[in-house]
Amino acid sequence: MRRILVTGGAGFIGSNFINYILDSRDDVVIVNLDKLTYAGNPENLAGAEKNRNYQFVKGDICNNELVEYLFNKHSFTNVINFAAETHVDRSILGAEPFYNTNVIGTNVLLEAVRRHKIEKFIQISTDEVYGSLGPEGLFQETTPLSPNSPYSSSKAAADLMVLAYHHTYGVPGVITRCSNNYGPNQFPEKLIPLMIINALNGQKLPVYGDGMNVRDWIYVEDHNRAVEKVMERGKTGQIYNIGAGCEMKNLEIIKLILSILGRQENLIEFVADRPGHDRRYAIDSSKIRNELGWRPVFEFNDAIRKTVEWYLKNRNWWENIISGEYRRYYKLQYGDTLSN
Ligand code: NAD
Ligand code: TYD
Repeated sequence: MRRILVTGGAGFIGSNFINYILDSRDDVVIVNLDKLTYAGNPENLAGAEKNRNYQFVKGDICNNELVEYLFNKHSFTNVINFAAETHVDRSILGAEPFYNTNVIGTNVLLEAVRRHKIEKFIQISTDEVYGSLGPEGLFQETTPLSPNSPYSSSKAAADLMVLAYHHTYGVPGVITRCSNNYGPNQFPEKLIPLMIINALNGQKLPVYGDGMNVRDWIYVEDHNRAVEKVMERGKTGQIYNIGAGCEMKNLEIIKLILSILGRQENLIEFVADRPGHDRRYAIDSSKIRNELGWRPVFEFNDAIRKTVEWYLKNRNWWENIISGEYRRYYKLQYGDTLSN
């Protein structure tokens, strides 16, 4: 049996990881340590709660004593660190929680891994640590780090720490750097769910700048299958880029969402650009494909429809969110009030 500490497992990608693993394997026990910030939602794990191989612990990865207690109690074989503050716009409004959780929190976990021998520590990082690309080229694992936002700089700091702990102390760390994810359970501050929900509510769709920024999109289950591959076969001390080779301009995606929902393009509203807005991300994932035999299986055109359908079927999930803290954030970010 693997005994895995998953951190941040009540958020978007972590909850999809836990649900995917528990649905597909019975040789794994998962302890999910999550602080339940605004982004963590126990509803994302309703199915997992019934599984005897799953346990939830509400707590902070910055809490040394709690982390030490959990390591002693469960003798983990693996740690997968999804826990983070993740939204670029929020990091621009206030950076402190980003450096606390993403840097200090990762350090607390690495120190625990130093004290307790485990098989592998997987740091879930992001392609945003590489900065921004011009019209040509792809991010490779060897591309120099050049983060531009408080969010990406905090993730880059954590990556460097994982590599330093591997080099100095032999901590069995591995880093994955994935491109933009989409799928069920994504908090509606990120592009795709925000546009789906605003369109459904007849609210304006705020496009930053000229809408021509490019992101490289991957369905969340493809990302999580890659994380599983890294857990099984990834080499410690290594970095693996993860991407599905699906570059899209923001405006293209927004228009596609409107057409799937049968809504008018006059909902689109160009708004002030994000400060320091990265122009283009695009991932070269040949290393994980060649060395670990991973490849994405979801096609963007099918998976985006599947995602839209999930939001249509799970209205309660997002209506609960937009009636809470989200309202305050939305007003700060867009200077606009949600209509209902
Ligand atoms: P999310 O914001 O949806 O969820 C983050 C989770 O971490 C939440 O459940 C939250 O409660 C928890 N958390 C936050 N601070 C914590 C703390 N101090 N202690 C314990 N738990 C805490 O994020 P996500 O989109 O699921 O991203 C997960 C990871 O994947 C992050 O590390 C992120 O940097 C990385 N990533 C995300 C994307 C993407 O497109 N969303 C792409 C590449 C990499
Ligand atoms: P986002 O989902 O925040 O992810 P990233 O971490 O890549 O910035 O944003 C994706 C892209 O969509 C990015 O170029 C910013 C843009 N965007 C908008 O134009 N309007 C919005 O309201 C949001 C949230 C994002």
